[in-house]
Amino acid sequence: MADNNLSYNERRLLLALDACGGSATPAQMIGSGHFALEVEIMGAASWLASKGLAKVDEESEEFYVLARDEGKLPERRAAEMIDAAGGTMEMSRLAEEMPGEDGIAVGWLRRKGLADIRAENGSKSLVLTQKGREFLSSEGKDEALLSRLADGPVPKSQVDAKLAKDLKGRQGMVAEETVTVRTISLTDAGKAAVAEGIELKEEVTDVTDAIIQSGKWKDAEFRRYDVQTFAPATYPAKKHPLSRLAADVRRLFTDMGFTEFDGEYVQPAFWNLDVLFIPQDHPARELQDTFYLEDPASIRVDDEALVEQVRSIHETGGDTGSTGWGGTWSREMAEQALLRTHTTVNSIRYIAEHPDAPQKMFSLSRIFRKESIDATHLPEFTQIEGIIIDEDGDFDMLVSLIREFYAKMGFDQIRIRPAYFPYTEPSLELEVFFNGKWMELGGAGIFRPEVMAPFGVKHPVLAWGFGFERLAMLKWGITDIRDLYISDIDDLKQNQVL
Ligand code: PHE
Repeated sequence: MADNNLSYNERRLLLALDACGGSATPAQMIGSGHFALEVEIMGAASWLASKGLAKVDEESEEFYVLARDEGKLPERRAAEMIDAAGGTMEMSRLAEEMPGEDGIAVGWLRRKGLADIRAENGSKSLVLTQKGREFLSSEGKDEALLSRLADGPVPKSQVDAKLAKDLKGRQGMVAEETVTVRTISLTDAGKAAVAEGIELKEEVTDVTDAIIQSGKWKDAEFRRYDVQTFAPATYPAKKHPLSRLAADVRRLFTDMGFTEFDGEYVQPAFWNLDVLFIPQDHPARELQDTFYLEDPASIRVDDEALVEQVRSIHETGGDTGSTGWGGTWSREMAEQALLRTHTTVNSIRYIAEHPDAPQKMFSLSRIFRKESIDATHLPEFTQIEGIIIDEDGDFDMLVSLIREFYAKMGFDQIRIRPAYFPYTEPSLELEVFFNGKWMELGGAGIFRPEVMAPFGVKHPVLAWGFGFERLAMLKWGITDIRDLYISDIDDLKQNQVL
């Protein structure tokens, strides 16, 4: 019978409600000695409610409460002082008698018509009016309300709103409060349970050392577990899924011996494009693909020797053996300021400073492209970029690193295809099978001599750039990339950590 599944407090509450005629407020049950604490009542009530044996109704009412009790109002204290002084008092004396409060007192004395100010022999005095004298022996409406409030909250409906508003305005003497009164009543099932008889016996809910050691456990009634009882879901705090994925990516690379690095979002086209041997008429340069800045509109590149090398490599190939792109290379175009369009700019800037093998670096950072937003594109997104400078570096090493990375992230089904980037040769593109189609995840390759020559790099440089958000989509089966950055609190709460 249901009785077995009821805790001691739940049984007590059923019996208390029955004794109160089927329904009662917590205050009534405490008043009648059935319970000592409201929390015990409400805890038991919500369990009984979840079992259909009781219901809890809530009603709210607005009250005024005394927020600051300062005893007599300053104007009354002032009036009494003036009266004691014979019905008139110099303002300067009042200031001495009630420092800091005399201004307020005078203001209210005048506003209520209790005193006048008179100028005599170059000094100002307060003189009680007829009304002021009557005031001494009567209570003001505001004072009556304050003393009522001193006894406890008063429902708003019983109070003159204008009066309350004035007192609220007086440095918040009065405040508003909403009080919720809960009434607990037995349901039909609850009444039936009571009618069947409820045995009230103390139960042990926690097995403690003391119970075991004292041997009390032999006679104790233990509270039975009911694994089928409803219990509210709890959602502990946790990191945003993207932060967790970022931490995984970082750990994976650092475990493989890589070091993280990053650079600035704002770059001259020179480092983002020209140094990478991207021709000046390349579509990536177009306004519709790249965010160019207005302020600063350009960034000076002051390494003259490097500028000249890049110019000659673009125009003729310099002494790299390449024929270059031909035409005339424009320094002005190269000095245009932009938001970096890939983190490959980090890699090349790092190489410029550290051209020697061995190097293993990665970055996980934001890039910007003027894309229109849709299910697979965002104008700001994140790239997983990296380089290896290694004496024995080759295409096989690059491919196996990529496969290893994705396998560790949980994707075995990836496909590597030949691709083209102006800065790598050979170049590859990797795709993963997702949602019934192959989805592009990123590119990689080995830097070309045209890119490496200015920095005197002597060993192969393997480079890659993968999409981070795409990886997140794959991982969680998300079909719309925008969902990653819409922080729906319910989705985030329910997102599983494991
Ligand atoms: N920068 C390329 C992109 O943004 C990726 C890439 C990085 C390709 C390094 C080759 C080498 O898609």
